[in-house]
Amino acid sequence: MRSLSTWTVCFLLGYLVGTVSPGPACRISEFPCHNGHCIRLDRYCDGTDNCGDKSDEPMFCTVCNRTYYGDVGKTYDLQVNKPPETRLPFLCHLTFTANGQNHGDIVQLIFDEFKVGRYESQGLDGCPDGYMQLSELGRPFTGGSWCGVSSGPAAYYSETATVTASVKLFANPQSPFQFRLRFRFVSRREAIVRFGSPASPLERGQVAPGTYCTRQFEECYRKTCKLQSPNYPGMYPRNVSCYWSLRQKFVPTCKHAMIAVRQEAPHKMHMKRSINVLGLNKTVRALRAWRDCTGERDHLIFYDGGSTNDPVLAKYCGGDWLPRVVSRGPEMLVAFHSSPFSIPLHSPPSQSPLRGFELDVEIVFVDSDSLDFSHEAAGCNFELNATDPDGDEVWTGRGRRGELLSTRHSLPPNTTCTYSFKGFPNDLVWISFVSYSQRALLVGENAAHALLGNGTSGNCATKLRVWDGKVLLEDKCDEPPRLCDHTALSNATRFTRPCSDSESYISTGRNLVLQHHTEDGTALHPASFRLRYEFVDVRFEGELWPSREKKGPCYRVFRKQHVGDVFVPRNVFLYGRGGARNLNCVYRFEAGPSERVRLIVNNASFGLDPTCVTGIDGHSGRSVCDHHPDSRIAELSVWEVPWRDIKLPRGCLCDNSSLVSKPMVFLSSSRALELHFVANDMNITEDFTNLYFHATFELIRMVDCPRKQKLLGDGGEIRFTSPPEQRSDLLCAGLPWMIEARANKSLFILSWGAFLPLKLRQDEATRCPTQNRILIYSGRPPKVVKALCPAEPGSRPLAVHVFSEEWWGEGDLHTRLKPPNFLIEWVSRESGIAALHWLEISRPRSSLLQQLQVPLNTSQNDTELECPYRCPELDACISSSLWCDSKDHCPSGYDESEAQCGSASKLLTSLPGATLAVAAAILCSLLFLACVAIHKIRVKRRRKLAKKKMLTGPRLLDSSLNS
Ligand SMILES: *[C@@H]1O[C@H](CO)[C@@H](O)[C@H](O)[C@H]1NC(C)=O
Ligand SMILES: *[C@@H]1O[C@H](CO)[C@@H](O)[C@H](O)[C@H]1NC(C)=O
Ligand SMILES: *[C@@H]1O[C@H](CO)[C@@H](O)[C@H](O)[C@H]1NC(C)=O
Ligand SMILES: *[C@@H]1O[C@H](CO)[C@@H](O)[C@H](O)[C@H]1NC(C)=O
Repeated sequence: MRSLSTWTVCFLLGYLVGTVSPGPACRISEFPCHNGHCIRLDRYCDGTDNCGDKSDEPMFCTVCNRTYYGDVGKTYDLQVNKPPETRLPFLCHLTFTANGQNHGDIVQLIFDEFKVGRYESQGLDGCPDGYMQLSELGRPFTGGSWCGVSSGPAAYYSETATVTASVKLFANPQSPFQFRLRFRFVSRREAIVRFGSPASPLERGQVAPGTYCTRQFEECYRKTCKLQSPNYPGMYPRNVSCYWSLRQKFVPTCKHAMIAVRQEAPHKMHMKRSINVLGLNKTVRALRAWRDCTGERDHLIFYDGGSTNDPVLAKYCGGDWLPRVVSRGPEMLVAFHSSPFSIPLHSPPSQSPLRGFELDVEIVFVDSDSLDFSHEAAGCNFELNATDPDGDEVWTGRGRRGELLSTRHSLPPNTTCTYSFKGFPNDLVWISFVSYSQRALLVGENAAHALLGNGTSGNCATKLRVWDGKVLLEDKCDEPPRLCDHTALSNATRFTRPCSDSESYISTGRNLVLQHHTEDGTALHPASFRLRYEFVDVRFEGELWPSREKKGPCYRVFRKQHVGDVFVPRNVFLYGRGGARNLNCVYRFEAGPSERVRLIVNNASFGLDPTCVTGIDGHSGRSVCDHHPDSRIAELSVWEVPWRDIKLPRGCLCDNSSLVSKPMVFLSSSRALELHFVANDMNITEDFTNLYFHATFELIRMVDCPRKQKLLGDGGEIRFTSPPEQRSDLLCAGLPWMIEARANKSLFILSWGAFLPLKLRQDEATRCPTQNRILIYSGRPPKVVKALCPAEPGSRPLAVHVFSEEWWGEGDLHTRLKPPNFLIEWVSRESGIAALHWLEISRPRSSLLQQLQVPLNTSQNDTELECPYRCPELDACISSSLWCDSKDHCPSGYDESEAQCGSASKLLTSLPGATLAVAAAILCSLLFLACVAIHKIRVKRRRKLAKKKMLTGPRLLDSSLNS
């Protein structure tokens, strides 16, 4: 009955009626009166004599079955009166043709009054009493119908130049009927809402032949593509199915294209009636979707691909906006279906007159190797393999750290995206969420859990799980995970503090898996996140420092390795960027017997802009770190470790240019060398990429120093010669001497030369004629206390004295609790000789009491208070074994003086104190001449001996003490 053929006939008839007898002077848009007047076509049969001769109102005239033309800019009226009962069933065709030029290009119909029978939304036949149908010339007949009572005017814009409105009423006299419309002819130029302005035309796609509204869109990257409902911006026809296929063919290399469709503007999104969800404000923009889209509702289906077999991203059937729907690949199919029956969609006066909808299209390009999209058509699995922490050159994975964004395309319902982080052995995985959001756009019945029935994931619309290997670390249902959202504020120039434990997740092993599940798809229940990941290499080279020393994890010792590389640790948690403040790493290289350590520092960096300068120590010629007083410490230092707990500096680096020209090489004098890397007050950007060093070490064969350089005893003498003359001197070169006092004893050193300031300025260097030095260290850890410019040994005026600091009651309690020590280092930079004498000394009780400020009974001249072997010029007691042993020990030589060492003197010491002095005086005067003679011989002999010893180089004279 409602067939196309009837329509075509009607149309042709109408056409003929309208053109049967054109008055010569009337245009096509005018009715020629018999009297020669021309009147508008809508004046025909309107109940008024417009011609003046009633020729426009013939008997039984009807507005039906006629074709109407008009002029652009004019509005025409038309009313179809309710047919008398006798004329039922009633059929009326009204054809409108836009005839081009000033007769317009498209037709606009405005149904001001529309009452055509009843509309039964649930019925099989929605329009039981009658209906209106619209058909366009050149478009297939859709068969959809309007009926019922429209509460306001509704507009229709033709797609082609000719549209026919057919009104049919069945034989039910009770059914209401009212039908009045206005029509206009619009030129294409004016129709900018549909076609865009001439300057920026809209791409609406080409209608596929034989279809009403199926269109293809290609290359929307450069064009402004719009998916418009048919007959946009008016009401769309009933019972249409449109398939809009979107395709982006051109994709730049290394890019991946996705297609996004959306409409945020409420005035461009009208599908059927606006919805009212109970209890919801206008501010909540609810959508109808999925199960809500029953047969009578017009709906849109978004396919994730080019065909209807592809997964459905969203099924949408109402709401005043459309959230962004994004396809995974460069193709998307959008299907639109309108129901066969409806009341005309009217626009309430308060709203925009536009009906139907228009969707914006956007092409999204992402990097083809990015994680922003699922690389597999079905499923959503990502593998993030770490790159090899050692192989910087080979790019086999995703690097060691980066940012990850949840898929930028929409996910179909019941999708789980799995991100598998795979580290190398010894890697941990650290992830922190910069942002996490999920938003329920669907309300009430069609909300998440109701959508797919009893989903496997309970009642969660969005689920987030984090697995540490096989252990579930986190399980969140519609709730955000631990967030580190302050990092969202960071950018290229602004850094934020590191994420703490409670703001991030750290695996215990090399693998971590993140699962993000969406129950009703992310198009209509957006859920997204942004996270940072990092593979943390927790390896350390070497072995852990012996546990008894209770040191941090960055104290490493290399014992058995003969050759190797050392780097800073690459564990970010030890650096500022991982939340640490200070880094203190110590690497000790221990060689075996007859081995030495050779260390080559190849490069080092101490932050972006270190203020410290690597200088040269004026005494030793070694590199030293000159720290700016207020700046933080970041340095690499190398230490000789001749004995446990005794370290002597061998060099220090603290600026980034120190190693530019050549690496720095250290060869140990002892069997152990230590490398210290310190960075204090690290800032939040610093890590092993700007605080680092690289060194190589190797154990080389070399005979050990054959003598003991650690001295304990009453006293002795050390001699230095440059260049070394004996094999032992050569083998022990660079190794310091260590002198240690026994409990309650102090140390004294006598040498010859001049003390220099510890920090030698350039101009002060000339004060010393030689570049050689004797450096005297004291304390634990040893510090240089004296820098001596050495002179010829034995020259009285150049004698210098050094006491251990507690002798003067100095030094803090801690150092005083341990027996004092001296470390003596011979810095040999040119040929020369030097010597020093050392003594273990103690105070006579009297001076001790004096020092302690105990009142002393002066009358009590008790020898008990004194000691028998006392160097008067030092006011110090020395060991009896040194007394009269033919070597001067007191600086003045008092211990070897005739007065002390005359043959009788020993005897006399046993005499009572009162007579001692008298007896000694007598003896002395008696033996004066003899004394002088013997002394002269003795001095001569000693000089000779000294000369000989100088030639033999440094060695301990009193070998009995060296035990
Ligand atoms: C219009 O034409 C159809 C035939 O095409 C006819 O059935 C119908 O009665 C006509 N309507 C009027 C009102 O004349
Ligand atoms: C409606 O809006 C008001 C403020 O405009 C707000 O206080 C209220 O909570 C809203 N109600 C609902 C159900 O969203
Ligand atoms: C990650 O590594 C595994 C083997 O460990 C390999 O099978 C997989 O292909 C790698 N994935 C990627 C994306 O490189
Ligand atoms: C969701 O997907 C899983 C596997 O992908 C399937 O086993 C399950 O049945 C699906 N659930 C629903 C409700 O479709």
